[in-house]
Amino acid sequence: MHRDRPVTQLPIGAAPRKWLGLRACLMLMLGASVMCATALGASKNGTKPASAKAAATASGEYVGADTCTTCHDAEGKGFASNPHTKMVMLHGDSGVTCENCHGPGKAHVDGGGDVSKIFNPAKASAQAVNDKCLSCHAGTHPNFLRSPHAKAGMSCVSCHSVHAAKEQAHLLKAAQPTLCFQCHTDVKPAFSMPFHHRVNEGLVTCSDCHDVHGSFENNNLKTTADQNMICTKCHTDVRGPFVFEHAPVKAEGCLGCHTPHGSQNARLLNMPNIAVLCNQCHSPVSAATVHGMGAGSSAIQPCISCHTMIHGSNFSPAFIR
Ligand code: HEC
Ligand code: HEC
Ligand code: HEC
Ligand code: HEC
Ligand code: HEC
Ligand code: HEC
Ligand code: HEC
Ligand code: HEC
Ligand code: HEC
Ligand code: HEC
Repeated sequence: MHRDRPVTQLPIGAAPRKWLGLRACLMLMLGASVMCATALGASKNGTKPASAKAAATASGEYVGADTCTTCHDAEGKGFASNPHTKMVMLHGDSGVTCENCHGPGKAHVDGGGDVSKIFNPAKASAQAVNDKCLSCHAGTHPNFLRSPHAKAGMSCVSCHSVHAAKEQAHLLKAAQPTLCFQCHTDVKPAFSMPFHHRVNEGLVTCSDCHDVHGSFENNNLKTTADQNMICTKCHTDVRGPFVFEHAPVKAEGCLGCHTPHGSQNARLLNMPNIAVLCNQCHSPVSAATVHGMGAGSSAIQPCISCHTMIHGSNFSPAFIR
């Protein structure tokens, strides 16, 4: 539903024609084209590309993936299905993949695996990891450094794992919401309340409403043109525009009356009693005086039993229908 973000743009010197070629190749690969498999240099489970290719990989400080995997079999095997295999097209199609993240590896290899000569994100500072990942991913996640997650000293590898992802989609350490609940135990109970957005059931995800990579909103909420879009992209019927708008829907937003995670109230209202909710703003309009129904009638006949079109109406300025 919110897949309208731009595809990852590489700020590095990737020749555009290469990427177009790559896309074409990926499409052709559906037809199992051998040519494309070679062009991509993706070594499918153990089948090493031709040695001529391997020779072409060594350039300057870079040794190429084939050399790395001679010693790091485990990381090499898993890598064929990693989205980062696409990086093989970088550095003049030289077969460099691992070293885009781990840095040039010649010194490490010459030192027989000298760990001081290679960048290991698992041991590096959060800032060093973020800098490395964002060197390519800042285009899609430009606000990460201002996010509460970054400010709390977290890095990309707090949630992602490149080589040992439990959830292959987006290379996550665990699927949502398990991933989030590992740290956010405080919000977990809300999703077990009698009425809740069915996140545990897999119908809605945390990231439908939040952008954990940071945004301009509080609470890591997604930034949308109209902030209510976070909700109205799913709840299209309450989106409007209506001939007669109920002012707080636009002014306060959905959270003026609703609580987002879960509630004792079937309509996820932030007040259990509807008259109390309405009268926060409409206190001069008590059921007794204005509607002439006698004191306390609102408890018997809640406001919304008459004001049914509470989000706005095209027919009634009092939202009666
Ligand atoms: C000659 C064999 C060899 C080659 C080739 C090799 N490595 Fe290593 N690498 C090692 C050894 C040995 C270790 C240390 C392993 C350990 O301590 O468990 C290591 C450790 C590492 C580590 C972890 C460092 C740390 O701080 O724990 C990374 C990351 C790594 N290598 C990446 C690479 C990359 C990327 C390449 C290709 C550029 C590469 N290696 C090529 C032998 C090699
Ligand atoms: C997209 C960035 C990226 C690429 C590309 C990449 N790695 Fe890694 N590598 C990481 C990260 C991040 C870690 C930390 C552990 C993790 O997240 O899975 C890591 C950890 C490692 C380790 C250390 C594992 C440990 O137990 O400490 C080795 C060895 C390694 N990578 C080898 C490789 C090899 C070989 C390749 C190429 C086939 C490669 N990496 C490609 C990001 C990358
Ligand atoms: C708090 C956990 C968390 C952190 C920290 C995090 N991510 Fe993510 N990332 C996710 C989740 C969950 C998704 C899938 C849902 C989504 O798209 O928001 C995702 C999706 C992605 C995607 C694929 C979808 C897209 O929007 O392009 C990329 C790329 C990515 N993250 C990169 C990064 C990078 C780079 C960093 C560090 C600068 C990072 N992430 C930090 C949790 C995290
Ligand atoms: C040299 C550039 C480069 C670096 C550095 C890099 N990436 Fe990527 N990343 C890519 C490319 C290219 C893709 C594939 C994009 C695509 O499929 O459109 C990708 C894909 C991803 C995805 C999967 C997106 C999806 O939708 O499934 C995640 C998650 C991700 N990267 C996280 C990271 C993390 C975490 C780091 C740092 C450890 C990192 N990347 C470092 C270039 C890079
Ligand atoms: C490794 C621990 C960890 C993981 C995993 C994690 N978070 Fe967080 N999150 C934090 C920390 C720490 C903060 C900042 C301190 C705070 O506000 O609680 C934070 C902040 C937030 C905030 C902002 C809270 C505020 O008050 O502004 C939201 C929203 C959030 N995380 C959502 C998520 C979602 C959704 C996921 C899963 C995709 C997730 N987090 C995964 C640790 C984590
Ligand atoms: C239907 C949209 C929606 C979904 C789904 C959702 N959130 Fe939220 N979340 C919000 C909104 C809106 C707020 C701001 C609440 C406020 O301002 O009172 C919020 C606030 C938060 C906060 C900070 C305030 C607090 O209550 O502690 C955290 C942390 C958080 N959400 C985590 C999560 C996690 C983790 C998930 C998934 C398990 C999740 N959210 C799913 C909309 C959502
Ligand atoms: C990803 C889609 C999605 C998003 C985003 C979303 N919702 Fe929902 N919402 C649902 C679904 C699906 C249900 C039905 C729940 C069920 O049947 O379990 C629901 C139920 C509700 C209900 C209870 C209504 C009823 O019919 O019982 C309210 C109120 C509500 N959402 C308000 C919000 C608000 C406020 C936001 C924004 C903070 C929001 N929703 C964001 C999908 C979404
Ligand atoms: C002025 C208070 C108020 C505001 C603001 C508000 N709502 Fe409601 N909403 C209600 C009340 C009251 C109900 C219960 C109606 C009923 O039970 O007939 C409700 C019911 C709902 C329902 C249940 C289905 C339905 O249409 O009755 C959804 C979904 C919903 N609201 C979504 C939203 C969204 C999304 C927003 C923001 C665009 C929003 N609401 C803003 C008061 C409000
Ligand atoms: C957050 C404040 C707020 C809440 C809560 C709220 N309203 Fe309103 N409502 C307003 C405002 C502001 C107006 C516009 C008043 C105006 O234009 O004079 C309005 C207008 C109305 C109108 C049209 C009245 C007119 O003068 O045109 C009705 C009817 C109404 N609200 C009913 C309700 C009901 C019923 C509830 C509870 C379900 C409710 N409101 C909750 C702020 C609120
Ligand atoms: C029995 C049905 C009924 C109930 C219950 C009801 N209303 Fe009304 N309400 C009406 C009608 C009818 C009007 C007048 C519409 C008109 O004048 O066009 C109205 C008008 C209003 C107005 C506009 C008043 C004005 O001064 O123009 C507000 C605000 C309002 N109601 C709020 C509420 C609130 C708050 C509750 C609950 C405490 C409530 N209503 C309960 C039927 C009802």
